[in-house]
Amino acid sequence: MSSLIFTPGKIGPIEIKNRIIRASAYEGMCENHEPSEQLKEYHTALARGGVGMTSVAYASVCKSGLSFHRQLWMREEIVPGLKELTDSIHEGGAKACIQLGHCGNMSHRRYCGQRPVGASGGFNLYSPTFVHGLRKDEMIQIAKDYGNAVRLAKESGFDAVEIHAGHGYLISQFLSPYTNHRKDEFGGSLENRMKFMEMAMTEVMKNAGNDIAVMVKINTRDGFKGGMEVDECIEVAKKLEEMGVHCLVLSGGFVSRAPMYVMRGAMPIRSLAGYMPWKQLWWLRIGVSLFGKLLIKDQPYKEAFFYEDALKFRKALKMPLALVGGLHSRETIDMALNSGFEFVEMARPLVHDTEFVNKLRDGIVNESGCRHANYCVARIYNIDMQCHEHCKVAPRLQKELDRNMKRNEK
Ligand SMILES: Cc1cc2nc3c(=O)[nH]c(=O)nc-3n(C[C@H](O)[C@H](O)[C@H](O)COP(=O)(O)O)c2cc1C
Repeated sequence: MSSLIFTPGKIGPIEIKNRIIRASAYEGMCENHEPSEQLKEYHTALARGGVGMTSVAYASVCKSGLSFHRQLWMREEIVPGLKELTDSIHEGGAKACIQLGHCGNMSHRRYCGQRPVGASGGFNLYSPTFVHGLRKDEMIQIAKDYGNAVRLAKESGFDAVEIHAGHGYLISQFLSPYTNHRKDEFGGSLENRMKFMEMAMTEVMKNAGNDIAVMVKINTRDGFKGGMEVDECIEVAKKLEEMGVHCLVLSGGFVSRAPMYVMRGAMPIRSLAGYMPWKQLWWLRIGVSLFGKLLIKDQPYKEAFFYEDALKFRKALKMPLALVGGLHSRETIDMALNSGFEFVEMARPLVHDTEFVNKLRDGIVNESGCRHANYCVARIYNIDMQCHEHCKVAPRLQKELDRNMKRNEK
């Protein structure tokens, strides 16, 4: 079968020149929650490097959803900066997407400026503070914030938005029985747990109109006992198809409970703790140093790690689907595209090498050089996301990094 990789594909109103999308992967390049020169350069390099579309990661739709100090926050005053960013991505030859979300109970009090909110109350280890379960009027406001963020994305020249409804962030916290313990009309049955997502998506679709592609990143399963399983996640996908969403990105995992399910491999615990800013996150640093191995369990890496579950979604849905997770070689990408997934998304191969797609196209490489040491993830609490090969590793962390690399190469 001939390869579909470098053929164009459609998502709602837009056409993308090939089937590879840079997955949303938090860059840590937005000091003061606004776009920077570094963010522009990075995404322009990805565009020049051959991706069909690049997704700017994890912009919060409102202040209460912030968890990092270098995370984008959608507001009127950053539109000119975002416009510069999308112009530059377009000049580089790619379409531009922005991921929109809300961290919910994983928001950080220091950055979100209030007690974090969630589907239900509880304790937020990341802040650390108690979480306030959202009232209905607050949910209506946040749903409107999703719509407003889409409007701002459109004004900024983005071709697509990706709503984050997976990985245990706010929408996912409502969907999952693990975090949703509500006794009102938003809790209990799956139908009720989907209601907040529907509220937010109604605003998203209204503001998107016919001008911008709407994608939603969802879980194929949460990845732990007591979370959502495939059958419920397929119902969520069907609801989104019914609402007119143009493409679903099939992922999985729950950052507060099964973080490595999202990306697989081992987490370099000492590096993760070592890069946490002592002043702001001393309790988390101590906690991760002492209990990190228990809290963040390794999950063996394999290629296309959501593929089997994702095939069940392919069968149940007619809409375009993008598969993410371990699409790191030409062979695996071809397998996914030939199985009916319209697009593949990738994060780490492009963290490793922004030129990866051009190199695939030109036959220079057939697989990514990323070895899933996940050092790029360990850095994101404090500094920008980068591959260990492109930055200086703190000498005290080098040994651990080497150990991780070896383990992953076995
Ligand atoms: C450094 C890093 C940051 C990430 N940040 C995000 C994020 O902000 N939003 C998101 O949906 N997924 C995020 N992810 C997950 C990726 O989008 C992707 O789903 C996952 O890494 C699996 O794809 P891969 O095997 O191509 O890396 C991140 C992954 C990495 C490595």
